[in-house]
Amino acid sequence: MKNMHTTLPTEQQVIDHSAEQQFCDDVIAGLTATPKYLEAKYFYDSTGDELFQKIMNSPEYYPTDCELEIFTEQTAELAKAIMANGDPFDLIELGAGDAMKSTHLLRYLLNADAKFTYLPIDISGHVISYLQNTLPITLPGLRLNGLTGEYFDMLNKATTLSPKRKVVMFLGSNIGNMPVADAENFCMELRSHLSPGDIVLMGVDLKKDPRTILAAYNDAEGNTRQFNLNLLTRINRELNANFDLDKFEHYPMYDPETGSCKSYLISLADQQVELCDHTVEFAKDEYIYMEISQKYTVSQVNYMALHAGFKPAGHFCDSKNWFMDTIWVAV
Ligand code: AVJ
Repeated sequence: MKNMHTTLPTEQQVIDHSAEQQFCDDVIAGLTATPKYLEAKYFYDSTGDELFQKIMNSPEYYPTDCELEIFTEQTAELAKAIMANGDPFDLIELGAGDAMKSTHLLRYLLNADAKFTYLPIDISGHVISYLQNTLPITLPGLRLNGLTGEYFDMLNKATTLSPKRKVVMFLGSNIGNMPVADAENFCMELRSHLSPGDIVLMGVDLKKDPRTILAAYNDAEGNTRQFNLNLLTRINRELNANFDLDKFEHYPMYDPETGSCKSYLISLADQQVELCDHTVEFAKDEYIYMEISQKYTVSQVNYMALHAGFKPAGHFCDSKNWFMDTIWVAV
């Protein structure tokens, strides 16, 4: 018995294996569909994390700067809204990334002696271990519990860990990574994990000059282009595929009517790609739909809140009114 036990794979290996299988299944599903697509959550391997940091630092990518302005200039008001009645709370962040914006709020809350635990959730284990290593140094005294995984799996885990009231932050226009109908369903599912009085702090990118939006997804330095192509590199490496990166071109577009900013990779030739025992055919000019970054008006966002069982309870915008962090209370 003892010997048998030692030959079993460790939990970590089991998880890695199933994650790889899932990645393979999802990529095959996307590339055998009509039209072809890849899931944006797979952008974020360690190179993808680095490229996204470069995008955020590029002069064209305004959302991060706008939201940072809100978090630095309106910290007290944000903190007041989430401290609510003063009861201890779990501060959960979905898709925490480098937590740069939240750090301002966390510091303010610590100084105000708020009783809370910070639970960053991210799909990238790389991101969570970075936060586990750095936050205790930048924010001494912070109660921290990082969770790696899918948002709702980890939100479930967080609600079983403690019965305290929940404040869920979903910043950086991450909600924009879903088409409007999916975002509405996401908000309803989010509500189903919460109780009346729980709070959501949601960061939304607002509709604005179409040229400003398009430039943010087509930076002159080419970081966004590389970010998209890097997913093909990741598939080559992790799924033994043979994408020729010179035969795909990054194509971003913004439609002011729908508020959808989308990016595609366009096949530059008739070509075949081998991956996971499959052969995928591409016609010249065929596209892979890569990502959506949906933009909203304030009233669309309010409607989405009400529709999902929340009451909009605060609007915080940057000085240009390009970006909004909104407070919703679960009803
Ligand atoms: C992380 C989803 C908010 O859509 O603006 C940035 C991702 N992709 N440039 C966004 C992204 C290309 C970003 N989000």
